Amino acid sequence: MLNYMCANWKMFKTRQQAAQTTSDLVTYLASSSLAGVEVVIFPPFTALETVHQILDSRPGFCLGAQNVYPAAEGAYTGEISPAMLTDHGCSYVLAGHSERRHVLVENNDFVARKVDFALQNNLKVILCIGETLQERKENRLQSVLAEQLQSALQDLQTEKIQDKLLIAYEPVWAIGTGEVARVQDIAQAHQIVRDMLQTILADFAWQIPILYGGSVKPDNSPEIMAIDNVNGLLVGGASLNADAFSQIVHSGSKA
Ligand code: PGA
Repeated sequence: MLNYMCANWKMFKTRQQAAQTTSDLVTYLASSSLAGVEVVIFPPFTALETVHQILDSRPGFCLGAQNVYPAAEGAYTGEISPAMLTDHGCSYVLAGHSERRHVLVENNDFVARKVDFALQNNLKVILCIGETLQERKENRLQSVLAEQLQSALQDLQTEKIQDKLLIAYEPVWAIGTGEVARVQDIAQAHQIVRDMLQTILADFAWQIPILYGGSVKPDNSPEIMAIDNVNGLLVGGASLNADAFSQIVHSGSKA
């Protein structure tokens, strides 16, 4: 399985800034450092075309969108369709990111519709799941992850998800806070996710990459990548800086 090293730029970077960071990344990441790695960049919508042109089908790099609406077209002010994203060179999309669940109040049903529609429309989906601090304190880790996974995956036909679905475990309390989950917490959560995937999807479970996200930095990424069942990273803050993100990508390289 490849390691997936993903840069989520959130609502940062104008086109010029996005172009600079992408060009720097391409320069820092020689093809040798990309052995066994897929780098996916999730710029804001306004910079998709800029980043797409610089990546220009470069091996090892892919483009993704931070959001998608589950309809082909229609009167959905402010939303974006899968076809609009693939038209800009996107092959990936995020669904269920904690900022969309908690700030934009998206619920499990809506996330499930996005996952299903994006997969049907030739996008690979990174389904983000994770517990809040309160849920962790109440010992609800397992039930929250089960609910988020089951609601999004239970109605999918398994042939639809082959090579197209990835999971990102991102404890909400570790996102953008500088607070990194301990190695044993990450190992435990990823094992829980792997076991649940096995229950929901049977034979396909082992093929699904499970990424970790939450305050990943160059100095902690090698340790996190060494944990069992960690098949990549979803990086926010540290991915805004090309030097820091290229160091993180190196920690996933199989060269
Ligand atoms: P962070 O964000 O690396 O800034 O914690 C991670 C994410 O939101 O995916």
